Amino acid sequence: MKIINRRTALASLGLFGGSALLSGCGGQASGEPGASPSFLPPSAVPVPDSPGKWTYRKLDPVAVGELAYAMYSDGGCMYAIVGSVMRSLAEKLGEPFRSFPYEMMRYGNAGLGGWGSVCGIVNGCAALIGLFQNGKEAKRREELITDICVWYEHTPLPVYQPVQPAWAEDVTPSVADSLLCHVAVSNWCKVTGCEVTCDERRERCRRASVDGVIRVVDLLNRNAVDPNCECLNLTSETQACLECHGPRELRNSMGRMNCATCHTFEGDHPAP
Ligand code: HEC
Ligand code: HEC
Repeated sequence: MKIINRRTALASLGLFGGSALLSGCGGQASGEPGASPSFLPPSAVPVPDSPGKWTYRKLDPVAVGELAYAMYSDGGCMYAIVGSVMRSLAEKLGEPFRSFPYEMMRYGNAGLGGWGSVCGIVNGCAALIGLFQNGKEAKRREELITDICVWYEHTPLPVYQPVQPAWAEDVTPSVADSLLCHVAVSNWCKVTGCEVTCDERRERCRRASVDGVIRVVDLLNRNAVDPNCECLNLTSETQACLECHGPRELRNSMGRMNCATCHTFEGDHPAP
């Protein structure tokens, strides 16, 4: 049997090299309080008995969107998106959707627990895609997630107009230009002159969450009918950067985010 020691276990979790951060929870012998957990060999890890049970059924995007708008004040962007879809499916189909612990999605608020990293709207939509497109094959899942990411980066948001606005009457839309909550909100504040804590900003994220859930429900509806339906693809600018820096050539850039948000060049690039 292959012995997995603490060092390899941490390396496989991507934690290796963070020993300073881990000091205080290492060093104890197994069995003592705070000792590292023992890892099951892969063959002993239980496989879900019926992977097909999380099967998506078509929903009315606008009705789900209205529910998301109402749920937002209870847990934020990611919670409202995942929660509104789960509650709508639970109403239609009962279990297992009724038991889905969507409360966990509160963690996504304000770019992951307030960190301003990945926007909870994008994170929530991608979590739903992950649940319903749950096979090992990554291609289609990534195509659907790409649709959401490209849409969020480049569309002026919010679009949704609630019948009864909760926190502010009018919200100026702006292009996020990034999946990062920090960048998206900062860009919105630049356009509007508002502070990040103002009611209009809170209303912007509330409405943009509705836009997100409408987008993902529509996408899942189309995908349910035609599993090859068209999705938004990377912009030609980003594709051009990745042709050189991506996995086929230089292999020194990870990811598909809009490169121009952070890298701009004066004159020609690459330099002659
Ligand atoms: C035709 C191939 C090619 C394309 C297209 C290309 N690059 Fe590069 N890039 C290079 C090469 C080669 C280097 C390293 C040599 C150099 O520094 O000029 C480089 C260097 C870089 C660097 C690090 C050095 C620096 O100048 O800051 C960044 C960042 C970068 N590219 C980003 C981009 C982005 C963003 C795009 C799309 C707008 C892009 N590249 C398009 C070939 C390319
Ligand atoms: C959110 C900001 C951000 C985005 C978006 C982004 N980058 Fe970067 N990138 C950085 C930072 C920060 C670094 C590290 C510091 C530096 O070299 O400028 C970096 C480094 C790089 C480097 C240098 C690697 C090296 O070995 O010197 C390349 C090349 C690069 N990025 C290409 C890209 C490409 C291509 C894209 C789009 C697919 C992209 N980046 C998107 C922030 C970003």
